[in-house]
Amino acid sequence: MKKVKLDNQPVGPFPTMLVGASIDGKANYTTVGAGGCACLAPVLCVSLKDTHHTTKGILQTGYFSVNIPSVELLEKTDYCGLVSGKNIDKSILFTSFFSEEGNAPMIEECPLNFLCKVCDKKGIRGFTMFFGEMIAAYINENCLSDGKPDPIKVDPIIMMGFSYCNMKEIIGHPFSEGKSLNG
Ligand SMILES: Cc1cc2nc3c(=O)[nH]c(=O)nc-3n(C[C@H](O)[C@H](O)[C@H](O)COP(=O)(O)O)c2cc1C
Repeated sequence: MKKVKLDNQPVGPFPTMLVGASIDGKANYTTVGAGGCACLAPVLCVSLKDTHHTTKGILQTGYFSVNIPSVELLEKTDYCGLVSGKNIDKSILFTSFFSEEGNAPMIEECPLNFLCKVCDKKGIRGFTMFFGEMIAAYINENCLSDGKPDPIKVDPIIMMGFSYCNMKEIIGHPFSEGKSLNG
């Protein structure tokens, strides 16, 4: 297949996340695509512009939450990436809930929530990549199948290029599909 050169821009795919933090005691949420899983230990990472309101909150408290919105929250999710908590109260968009384990708000309406304590950070070209030890994780009961998170029920939003996409179907299982090529 002929390869075509692209501009050196990160096109994805990326998971769409809503990162939560408390700033001066007030909940705020922002849309983030840059981030995910940092290693096989329960450590998540999110990269946030240094000037974002959310960044200020993470630096103040040492905690952040990663909330995975489902497709039905697309409009609110995109809005959280359009406006800043410096000027607009984004906490009213959702019902916030908290865990006594750490000081970051989580979003009731998101089916998956991870509460993280900052364990490392790295500045990178005007952004800070925060690494967060996962200290609590929640899922909506109705998003489980056989006791495990069901990706189709969670219905996450994937961003790629200038599009948001959904996940249509399960097509296989990790550490399984390749076995047939193993000798
Ligand atoms: C789809 C999408 C993805 C985004 N990803 C990131 C990201 O990975 N890191 C970042 O710093 N900002 C990202 N942004 C921009 C912030 O969400 C946006 O500037 C937001 O208004 C900052 O809000 P705050 O000042 O309340 O923290 C993204 C925005 C959108 C719409």
